Amino acid sequence: MKAIYLTGFMGAGKTTIGKALSETLQLPVIDTDEYIIQQVGKTIPAIFEEEGEATFRQYERTFLREFPVNDVIITTGGGIVIQEENRKWMKEHGIVFNLYCEIDEVFSRVSIDGSRPLLKTDDKSKVRNLFESRSAFYQEAHFTIDTTYKNIEEIVKEIQNKL
Ligand code: S3P
Repeated sequence: MKAIYLTGFMGAGKTTIGKALSETLQLPVIDTDEYIIQQVGKTIPAIFEEEGEATFRQYERTFLREFPVNDVIITTGGGIVIQEENRKWMKEHGIVFNLYCEIDEVFSRVSIDGSRPLLKTDDKSKVRNLFESRSAFYQEAHFTIDTTYKNIEEIVKEIQNKL
């Protein structure tokens, strides 16, 4: 089976769903953020602070190409879609899912604990703008699944039905 890429905004549940899907389908899961943390040896906030967002995006682009493209689930950071070449790569090499979640639900799911540099703001309108500005990119996925009012089992089932 081709790689399954889970994309979507922060808080959409990519990592959680990726783990559940991995158990259901008996496939390994690779998380782009976790991989970057291991390879670079720094946390995401430290990379943003010390090397800048552009370098982080470069890591995303480079490592995405190093992952297998068969029999694997790849859970991505919310910003993977902003680079056109990443969108193209994922669509060419796998089945791309966009896990959509309404922005107000995103706010209740994610904590502003510093682990996500782009949420380190009191200004919710900035996060809303980021969400809006990426919306068209997420929708380029093969399938969009609305996760807003669904539990993990329902979302996994919906993904399975599309495979
Ligand atoms: C980012 C999302 C994060 C992480 C980084 C940047 C983004 O991943 O890659 O903080 O640009 O949306 P999650 O979507 O897993 O939170």
